[in-house]
Amino acid sequence: MPKGGRPARIFPSRRSTSSSTLVFAVLLMLSVVLLMLLALGILSLPVDKGNDSPKTPNHGIKSQTRDGEDLLGERGSRWTEVISWEPRAFVYHNFLSEEECKHLIELAKPHMEKSTVVDSATGQSKDSRVRTSSGMFLRRGRDKIISDIEKRISDFTFMPVDHGEGLQVLHYEVGQKYEPHYDYFIDEYNTRNGGQRIATVLMYLSDVEEGGETIFPNANVNSSSLPWYNELSECGKKGLSVKPKMGDALLFWSMRPDATLDPLSLHGGCPVIKGNKWSSTKWIRVNEYRA
Ligand SMILES: *[C@@H]1O[C@H](CO)[C@@H](O)[C@H](O)[C@H]1NC(C)=O
Repeated sequence: MPKGGRPARIFPSRRSTSSSTLVFAVLLMLSVVLLMLLALGILSLPVDKGNDSPKTPNHGIKSQTRDGEDLLGERGSRWTEVISWEPRAFVYHNFLSEEECKHLIELAKPHMEKSTVVDSATGQSKDSRVRTSSGMFLRRGRDKIISDIEKRISDFTFMPVDHGEGLQVLHYEVGQKYEPHYDYFIDEYNTRNGGQRIATVLMYLSDVEEGGETIFPNANVNSSSLPWYNELSECGKKGLSVKPKMGDALLFWSMRPDATLDPLSLHGGCPVIKGNKWSSTKWIRVNEYRA
């Protein structure tokens, strides 16, 4: 009797099982390939693309107003712009309405105090010559308008609202500035609540006629090739700079995606040359910040 004949005949059901397994495997592989193509953006699902897109630069991403949004004031067209990947920095144009900017200024105005910096030895606030503005903190969720802004910051950064410190409102008059510094801490005291500062959202509440730019002196960007370079002050030309514009928000990360501190996030405020600068800062922590 010949050996090794046709085992399939002894187990007739095996062939059909294996062929259906094969069909299943092929279908599975096809769907995986399809998903990969979709993920890579080679194929695209039809999506409703609005046609009121503003003059977006290369990196422009259009945002949409959610239905039923009940917010203070009209905002101009909103779009985000990548200004640097080293450090990671983005501008969200028309992040706040003019009314929201005015609301923050009015709340803060009666309580402005000379700004201090944190003493890294003691963790206490101290007077400083590197920071000559005045400012105050607005409690998180203090009113509806502030809650709306904080929700929007959370949407923009993907960081939860309760990881944020209270909004700080700052005022710089002619000649006032903030020398380049890091927003992250190098001491333990200041990271006990909420851990390290991971990101900063800096909102401009006013236009500034001249000067007052936010500058990243160490950014890995050829700043002289930027379209707005010629509008910058002498100080602003010394690095990657953002010109204050009412309602715009600047987001930058003090930590890289691998959670190491990013020294390229060094930044400062150039002296105001003409006009007045009002801004508001939201510092965001790695963990929940008890406020
Ligand atoms: C930076 O950009 C300017 C203007 O486009 C150009 O003239 C200059 O060569 C660039 N510098 C570097 C180092 O690429």
